[in-house]
Amino acid sequence: MSVKQDQMLGFDEHDELVRPAAEVVEFEETAKAMVSRRGFLTGGAAVGATAFVMGSTTFAAGNALASEEVKMSRLAFEMVKANALDTVTVPAGYNWQVLASWGEPLFSNAPAFDPATGGTGESQELAFGDHNDGMALFSHNGRQILCVNNEYTNASTLHANRADGKPVNADDVRKNKAAHGVSVVEIARKDGKWSIVKDSEFNRRITADTEMDITGPARGHDLMKTKADPKGVVAKGTWNNCGNGQTPWGTYLTCEENFNGYFSSSNKNLALTPQMKRYGISHDDRGYNWALADARFDLSKDPQEPNRFGYIVEIDPLNPTARPKKRTALGRFKHENAEVEVAANGHVVVYLGDDERGEFLYRFVSKNKYVVGGDNTDLLEEGTLYVAKFNENNTGHWIALTPEATGMSEAEIAIYTREAASKVGATTMDRPEWVASNPNKAEVYCALTNNKNRGVKPNAGGDETPPAGPNPRVKNNYGQIVRWEPANQDHTAEKFTWDLFVLAGNPAVYDDAYAGSKNVNKDNMFNSPDGLKFDSKGLLWIQTDGNYSNEKDFAGQGNNQMLVGDPETGEIKRFLVGPKECEITGAAWSADRTTMFVSIQHPGEKGNSVWPNGGTPRSSVIAISRDDGEMIG
Ligand code: FEO
Ligand code: CA
Ligand code: CA
Repeated sequence: MSVKQDQMLGFDEHDELVRPAAEVVEFEETAKAMVSRRGFLTGGAAVGATAFVMGSTTFAAGNALASEEVKMSRLAFEMVKANALDTVTVPAGYNWQVLASWGEPLFSNAPAFDPATGGTGESQELAFGDHNDGMALFSHNGRQILCVNNEYTNASTLHANRADGKPVNADDVRKNKAAHGVSVVEIARKDGKWSIVKDSEFNRRITADTEMDITGPARGHDLMKTKADPKGVVAKGTWNNCGNGQTPWGTYLTCEENFNGYFSSSNKNLALTPQMKRYGISHDDRGYNWALADARFDLSKDPQEPNRFGYIVEIDPLNPTARPKKRTALGRFKHENAEVEVAANGHVVVYLGDDERGEFLYRFVSKNKYVVGGDNTDLLEEGTLYVAKFNENNTGHWIALTPEATGMSEAEIAIYTREAASKVGATTMDRPEWVASNPNKAEVYCALTNNKNRGVKPNAGGDETPPAGPNPRVKNNYGQIVRWEPANQDHTAEKFTWDLFVLAGNPAVYDDAYAGSKNVNKDNMFNSPDGLKFDSKGLLWIQTDGNYSNEKDFAGQGNNQMLVGDPETGEIKRFLVGPKECEITGAAWSADRTTMFVSIQHPGEKGNSVWPNGGTPRSSVIAISRDDGEMIG
């Protein structure tokens, strides 16, 4: 396969293409899943094996909302209508500004962004990365340091100066690698305008070439050894950093997602192992061409290099010289984000999604306990990884991925986590994206963005994907948000109960399960929930990365957007609509919570946007405030 840059496939489409075709199966339950909308409107009546289960609070409150919406709502803003404009739309009484864009210099010795070329390798290493995604803000002695993931690049924009729209020489590869990773920037507000503090001692770029320590069970294992690192203890770089996490001990977690799409093989006859195939490693990359200038991306030269990617990486944002640490105890898969909780018993719990069709939802529980003011530096080094099993009757439990349960060593579980989870019979999910934990009680939400293969074919490991439980619809192109409550309000408990907070859909097109749940209507409808984040009031901000065609199944849904949901009532209102062909992702608040920062990623990914400045479209972090200066969440 050869991929032209201006025709780059989505990561999931790339995986579908490079993976040997999975067997298409017929599921007995498929017909049963075509349950009527009425079935779940009435509170989750079971239909055969596939009940649509909605929380009782959602239903009760949803009914009340119809008559008393204004009086009861905690969502005190005027809902933004869906639109397909090439700008950011926020409610009346709110405003937005650009905080930072791809290519913006972090240091005064870097050249200004050049829209004609998109810069060079050297300039990009000193500038804000591309495709900003998850982020977190750290306050330190009155200063504010923002860590922002730079997930990937659209080469046709990054390399607009190349006729065939792909990296053609070593400097292009250097620039492409430097556009990935993490940007750490001090930010400040002056005269109402947020901007990067140039030359701050905290400013730092972490890229696909930054050295980092491998920690945890996989450190030093034979599978981690390469020509450049015969001990298997130091990895070079991080990329495809999607969602994020933030620890109570002040570190930033960045999550490696579609790491596979950067590897290729000059030997097209190279035998691919089953483990390579499970992770979508193939003879062809997604068009990045990094192997052109860096042999470690050529599988035929270093077949174990991919084993060192697909992890959670921990970064100390206040120490620019500290080496990032790859936390292999949290498993290797296509990590979305890392939601950290300290359980009542002191153990640290991290919830983790694997964003691929039919993959799994995970939980890590630290061996040691968090101690306020103590040395918590290495809590993520050792612990137990669990995978979720959902039952039809609204119950579920966590299955520990131990050597006894899987027949694999601890290092193998850390490296081939998907295989371990398949062995214990975990529930295949509709692409687990962000996980968010309710600050008001032990209750956790996960966006299951969509899954066109649900009920159609198995996952990449051959596990069946019947429509069932929290993944009830075949060919699920709208997505849903599942939530669960740990037994005894204990995040380390084995058991939980679950329901669906929302089933996205289009009630203007369908009147069955694909119309969505009761808290979805023609005014607030959306598809493909992805980013989730709770604010300090316990409201759930929902961001989408879905189909923005605004036609057929998606007619009336407009561009990708951000909504707010109330966990208590089920009410959902649209707060923001992004510019054309972008996704909305990542959120953080200023220390005084009067500003909310949000990522606008890949505006104009198909060439149809000039946001934000009327020229080259540039991924940017925006700062949203209220006109009256009050808190925004
Ligand atoms: Fe990078 Fe699953 O989104
Ligand atoms: Ca995402
Ligand atoms: Ca996504």
